[in-house]
Amino acid sequence: LHKGHGVKGLSETGIRTLPNQYIQPIEERLCMTKVVPQDSIPIIDISNCMEDPKVAEAICNAAERWGFFQIVNHGIPIEVLEDAKEATRRFFGLPAKEKNKYSKDNSPSNNVRYGTSFSPQAEKALEWKDYLSLFYVSDDEASALWPAACRDGLLEYMRKSEAVVKQLLKVLMEKLNVTEIDKSKEDLLMGSRRININYYPICPNPELTVGVGRHSDVSTLTILLQDDIGGLYVRDLEDNNSWIHVPPVKGSIVINVGDALQIMSNGRYKSVEHRVVANGSKNRISVPIFVNPTPNDIIGPLPQVLATGEKPLYKEILYSDYVKYFFRKAHDGKATVDYAK
Ligand code: SIN
Ligand code: FE2
Repeated sequence: LHKGHGVKGLSETGIRTLPNQYIQPIEERLCMTKVVPQDSIPIIDISNCMEDPKVAEAICNAAERWGFFQIVNHGIPIEVLEDAKEATRRFFGLPAKEKNKYSKDNSPSNNVRYGTSFSPQAEKALEWKDYLSLFYVSDDEASALWPAACRDGLLEYMRKSEAVVKQLLKVLMEKLNVTEIDKSKEDLLMGSRRININYYPICPNPELTVGVGRHSDVSTLTILLQDDIGGLYVRDLEDNNSWIHVPPVKGSIVINVGDALQIMSNGRYKSVEHRVVANGSKNRISVPIFVNPTPNDIIGPLPQVLATGEKPLYKEILYSDYVKYFFRKAHDGKATVDYAK
C-alpha cells in the first residue's frame, strides 16, 4: 500500500476507490444532515481585548458556550500566516525520501515526527491525513532538527503568535479570578508548545472516511491556521447531534479550548469535540499550535475556581500522563477527559 509515501502519495497515484483500511464505521462518518448550515462559532475582533471589557466578555462567553472561536485583528501580520502555510506546502511537497527522514523509525528525535493517520497501531480505521509534528524545545534545537523546508516559516509563526496566546489566557484567567500570572502559572498555562502541520489530500471516497476523527485537544489552548478549503466541524454543545462548520475567514485564526483548560477551569471553559472531513476535489492544509502545560506540571481545577465552594469535577493528574493516555489510543471523542475524573 504505497508504504512510506503517506496518504498524499497514495492520493497522487490517482486511485479511484478508497482502500479498506480507511473505511470508517458508519457512525464515524459525518452525516451532512447533522450539520447546522446557518450557524457558526463567533468571530471576535480582538484588537482591543486588553482595554474593552466587551471584547474580554465575548472571548470568555465563546470559551464557555462553544469552546471555539475565530479571532481577527490579532496583530499577527498576514505575511507571517501566508509564510507558515507556504512552509507547510513546501514540506509536504518534498520527495517521500526526504519526508521519511522524520518518520518514527528514522527521525533523529522524538520531538520531530512525520506520520500518517493519528495512531495507526491503535486505530481500527485509518484517517486520511499526513502530518509533521514538532515539539518546540528551543530555537537551537529547532535549527538543528526541524526540516529546513518549513523551519523558518513555522518558527516565525510561533514567535509572532505568542503575544496573542498570552492575551487570550490573561483574559480567560481574569474571569476565573486568577489575576496574577507569575512564572509558575505561566508555565502551567503555556510552558510547552507543539506545532503540527497537516496535509489532507484529495480523497477518492470522502464520504466513507475522515480527515481527522472526533476528538478534543489535550492542550490548554489550540490556535489553528487553516487554508481556504474548509472542512473542520465542531460539536454544538447545546444540540449534541449537530455539527457546525468552521468557515475559513481570511486572516483569521481559530482558537479552541483544550482539555487542560477545561480541567483547570473545573468545566467552565469547554474542550469541544471536533473533526475534519475528507475532500473529494481539493487538498487541504492546516497548522495548529498546541499551547500546553509543561509535561511535569500537575493539572487540576485551579484553587481560585474552587474558592467559591465549587466541587472539583476532576482530580489532579500529571500532565505527561494525561498526554500519554491520549496518544496511546485512537481518536475517541471526549473519552480522554474521563481519565482525569
Ligand atoms: C485537528 O483538530 O486535529 C485538526 C484540525 C484541522 O485540521 O482543521
Ligand atoms: Fe484537534
